Amino acid sequence: MRVIASAICVGAMALSVAACGGSGGDSASSASASASASSAAVPAAASSADSAATTSAAPAVAAGAGAEPAAFAQCKACHSTEAGKTLVGPSLAGVFGRKAGSMAGFTYTAGFKKLDLSWDEANLDKWLTNPAAMAPGTMMAFPGIADATQRKAVIDYLKTLK
Ligand code: HEC
Repeated sequence: MRVIASAICVGAMALSVAACGGSGGDSASSASASASASSAAVPAAASSADSAATTSAAPAVAAGAGAEPAAFAQCKACHSTEAGKTLVGPSLAGVFGRKAGSMAGFTYTAGFKKLDLSWDEANLDKWLTNPAAMAPGTMMAFPGIADATQRKAVIDYLKTLK
């Protein structure tokens, strides 16, 4: 029974330290419960301080020039951001403002070559919404990004790739 009572007491202490303060009857077990509760609290506090440090560092990185949005991870399977480096697709370095299909040394599909446009925001938004709708038969086997905010984040990032 004592075990149960002190377990309840420990549980209650997690909610409110004052809850068991005046119990008196079993001071030895309540003291050890309080000792273990407070030693358990130390690593928890330390790790939350760690994670606070990580989260406060993250926005600083995101605010820096050229920060890569999460949605760009899927592009990297096929595209390099290094100038002139071809993977499955052409390099995306300098793609913003460039004429579609103009990366030297990359063989574009016939449907893609018919695109007579430059990669401005509106065209990139259309392309990233649904590549196959814009250039039927395209090799860019990618269903598109449904979320407009994510598309914008990717386009803003493309602008930074020189
Ligand atoms: C499965 C591979 C693959 C994925 C994933 C992919 N692409 Fe592509 N991408 C290609 C290929 C291949 C082409 C060339 C299209 C063609 O010739 O039909 C291309 C073309 C492009 C072009 C036109 C480049 C030019 O030189 O005109 C842009 C811009 C582009 N992709 C951006 C992206 C972005 C941004 C993402 C991620 C959201 C992405 N792609 C994901 C394979 C991929």
